[in-house]
Amino acid sequence: MEVLDLNTHFHTLRGTVRAVDGVSLAIQKGEALGLVGESGCGKTMTAFSIMGLVPSPGKIVGGEIWFSHDNSRKDLTKIPEEEMRKVRGGKISMVFQDPMTYLNPVMRICDQIAEAIVLHQEVPRNEARRRAIELLEKVRIPIPSTVAQYYPHELSGGMRQRALIATAISCNPDLLIADEPTTALDVTVQAQVLELIKQLKREMNMALMLITHDLGIVADTCDRVCVMYAGRIVEEGDVYEIYREPRHPYTIGLLKSTLSIDEFKETLVTIEGTVPDLTNLPPGCRFRPRCSEVTDRCRETAPPMVEVKKGHKVSCWLYE
Ligand SMILES: Nc1ncnc2c1ncn2[C@@H]1O[C@H](COP(=O)(O)OP(=O)(O)OP(=O)(O)O)[C@@H](O)[C@H]1O
Ligand SMILES: [Mg+2]
Repeated sequence: MEVLDLNTHFHTLRGTVRAVDGVSLAIQKGEALGLVGESGCGKTMTAFSIMGLVPSPGKIVGGEIWFSHDNSRKDLTKIPEEEMRKVRGGKISMVFQDPMTYLNPVMRICDQIAEAIVLHQEVPRNEARRRAIELLEKVRIPIPSTVAQYYPHELSGGMRQRALIATAISCNPDLLIADEPTTALDVTVQAQVLELIKQLKREMNMALMLITHDLGIVADTCDRVCVMYAGRIVEEGDVYEIYREPRHPYTIGLLKSTLSIDEFKETLVTIEGTVPDLTNLPPGCRFRPRCSEVTDRCRETAPPMVEVKKGHKVSCWLYE
């Protein structure tokens, strides 16, 4: 998948919210890409744009989303909704932070998964239910035939997330987008669910786009990472490279503010200030009000994305 200069804006009474403002990124087959950044920087809206699920009054106002599969290559922003419905949940699936919002509370787990299956594949309902149980097994739910009969409220948070993942992979998607899939879970369950996602990705040779604000999770799960700030990607590269040699002052700050077990810190380092109001962006670099390396140039013109090393790109005037 290749996203080129994506712009998704919300036209509100307060003005235009530039939730996604010129995002470009690419994910190869079987690759895991992490999308990280602070709350409100546009991660979910980037994912929703790809899924064709931008909520009103939001709208994709520019850019292209090229998705290639089975020898076809299409710009998802240009295809009719009917075709998009087949892509969504069929070729590209998404799991969300809060599974309860996306599970139907009055439907048994197996029926929900079966529903997703019959929506995209021509199989009878009985067969779909049988496959649903297989999928529950695939996401390592113990005694799947019993759990299949449960309603969502009868499951723990971790099990619900597994059920949602089962639904998401029911049609063998080429790309799985996981938006903060473990944020609502406690740490042990979080690790198990992440491990599951990693294993499924490998087994099914899916591409994965993992959205999180936890750099530790990215290090553990992803091949490459895109760091997002105020609607833009500010740095992109191989995970090891970015952790070893972060270039953008924001990425450096993010890494410094991550707690590590090896290095116990008395006080947690924070990045001063907050994400700018996306309706009222400052001219020049968006990070400059919080940046310690700021120069006059940063106040005037937004820095372009430059490649500092093969595959490592950064948008900052310190690197030209
Ligand atoms: N319905 C809406 N109307 C106006 N603005 C919106 C709407 N939904 C989202 N936004 C704005 O879009 C921006 C990006 O939101 P988004 O949900 O993508 O952030 P995020 O990076 O996923 O944050 P989080 O980590 O908290 O999930 C935010 O600044 C938000 O205020
Ligand atoms: Mg979000």
